[in-house]
Amino acid sequence: MLKRTHGCCELRSDHVGEEVILCGWVNTLRDQGRGLVFVDLRDRDGVTQLVFDLEDIGEALVESAGKLRNEDVIAVRGTVRTRESGNPKLPTGEIELLVTELDVLSHAETPPFVPEEKGTDKEVREDVRLRYRYIDLRRPKMQRILRMRHDVTMTMRRYLSDVGFLEIETPFLCKSTPEGARDFLVPSRVQPGCFYALPQSPQLFKQILMVAGVDKYFQIVRCFRDEDPRADRQAEFTQLDIEMSFVDSDDVLSLIEALTKSIWKETIDVDLPDFPRLTYREAVDRFGIDRPDMRFGLELVDVSDLAREMEFGVFHDALAKPAGVVKAIRVPGGASMSRKKTDALAEFAKGFGAGGLPTVKRTDDGFATGIAKFVTPIGDKLIERTGAEVGDLIIFAADTYNIASKVLGELRIKLAGDLDLIAGGQWKPLWIVDFPAFDWNDDEKRWDPLHHPFTAPKPEDVDRLETDPGDVLTNAYDLVLNGSELAGGSIRIHDTAVQQRVFRLLGLTDEQAREKFSFLLDALQYGAPPHGGIAFGLDRVIMLLAGTTNIRDVIAFPKTLNGADLMTQAPSVVDEAQLQELHIALTSDPSNV
Ligand code: AMO
Repeated sequence: MLKRTHGCCELRSDHVGEEVILCGWVNTLRDQGRGLVFVDLRDRDGVTQLVFDLEDIGEALVESAGKLRNEDVIAVRGTVRTRESGNPKLPTGEIELLVTELDVLSHAETPPFVPEEKGTDKEVREDVRLRYRYIDLRRPKMQRILRMRHDVTMTMRRYLSDVGFLEIETPFLCKSTPEGARDFLVPSRVQPGCFYALPQSPQLFKQILMVAGVDKYFQIVRCFRDEDPRADRQAEFTQLDIEMSFVDSDDVLSLIEALTKSIWKETIDVDLPDFPRLTYREAVDRFGIDRPDMRFGLELVDVSDLAREMEFGVFHDALAKPAGVVKAIRVPGGASMSRKKTDALAEFAKGFGAGGLPTVKRTDDGFATGIAKFVTPIGDKLIERTGAEVGDLIIFAADTYNIASKVLGELRIKLAGDLDLIAGGQWKPLWIVDFPAFDWNDDEKRWDPLHHPFTAPKPEDVDRLETDPGDVLTNAYDLVLNGSELAGGSIRIHDTAVQQRVFRLLGLTDEQAREKFSFLLDALQYGAPPHGGIAFGLDRVIMLLAGTTNIRDVIAFPKTLNGADLMTQAPSVVDEAQLQELHIALTSDPSNV
């Protein structure tokens, strides 16, 4: 077999006259007739033009070249020469290889699509690309993303190792760690009826590592959450997981800010600005959600006081609810929107719990359409509050604080897309801090942790845990960049008594807490340092850096929206014998489910 001497993106004018060997895939083939064949040979780094010319080599070789097909794998020996008309778009565009020997290493069937740079994303259906992922991954775009992911993880490892962190692996077969999703379960063969859970994150192990005196831990680790995939969510995804001892939240935030800046600089040569901090409350007040995209305005304003002065029943009904509010958003130039368009916005808002979506347009002579007659009496105050100008649209949401904020927050993002309000090339990172500890779950009539149950209440709020749980704040923080939640973490509880009080508040009896978390409660009793940490969503980091909105683009072998791996056909039915070994009996015939 011919052994390659160079890669397909390596040869330049300096190499002219040298005899070299290249290996790769037939990217394109042009048979000019008259004994002249051109082949573009591709490997993961690029392409080199090969020439098979009857004037220089035997007929047999030109003939075999003419029989090559796309994606055949070949090795060639030849002499580098200057190209008659160079191709400045290619790094190897100045030269070509005059082939003197050809070895066909593997013939390819006609591929279902060609792994080209342009067009494939749109022209080839994603299910076909996933089914033949090995062809899809040959595309230059995918090769660039794979390399970028490698570069980013190398930067993370180097950076953290240099400042004293140790990378430590934690188990995949473990006891359930609550992160708010459903667990993937793995049956135990040796302990019938018992199950492991795949970790939703290594949260408890990393805390235990702090008790174990590790001090600074990190891990680039797979996490498993049985939840429906979305554009930025997979059931199986990767975190850069970090935990540190003897720190406060400023220590964690400044380390992560510096690390993030260094990733952006090293990977795409961007200098990120300093990360401002916004409290959770301010984020929801102004942007309706806790991961605000700061690349555009469209801020929400509270107009509850003005709504009280209006004779509009819908607003009064909303204000009569506990925590009822009326909020508004000004859409610049929105007065030109058609009725059909505003109806479509109302339909969108319904998906987030809105009953309706009252609107009004500011015109040359006051207000028109929608709820104009109710707005007119307080028109000047509304103009002052919202900054509405002639030609603008004002949209209202009247409901509980949570629903009204959510509706306008989601609408704000949609409007920015529809109206093309996001100028390209911007990077707007920020920290969201001071999260409430608990969220009231009205369906289940209980408190749920907003982050996870191991997040420490702020010291000044611990006394109010039982009396005022809704007002207890934590030193939890999320890193948000261009509207994407990149990382989240907190300072943890390192005191058994406080941890037990939090479990009780969440509705766990002491016995239930012991049964689920005895190892944690035990460990906290044997000398636990104050500690805190964070976890990045690695896939989301790469999505932003690579400029894609599809998480599947940044994972070599991702799952579809219904959790399938189209290449290996997982999940699949297993043998009866395997089930028996695991002491599992199916309650229904899977083919009928
Ligand atoms: P959290 O659940 O916020 O925190 O997760 C941390 C980060 O992981 C990413 N992420 C996901 N990415 C892709 N698909 C998913 N299904 C998915 N779920 C989460 C997000 C998120 O910010 N143990 C805590 C961390 C800690 O407290 O230190 C945790 O897992 O980018």
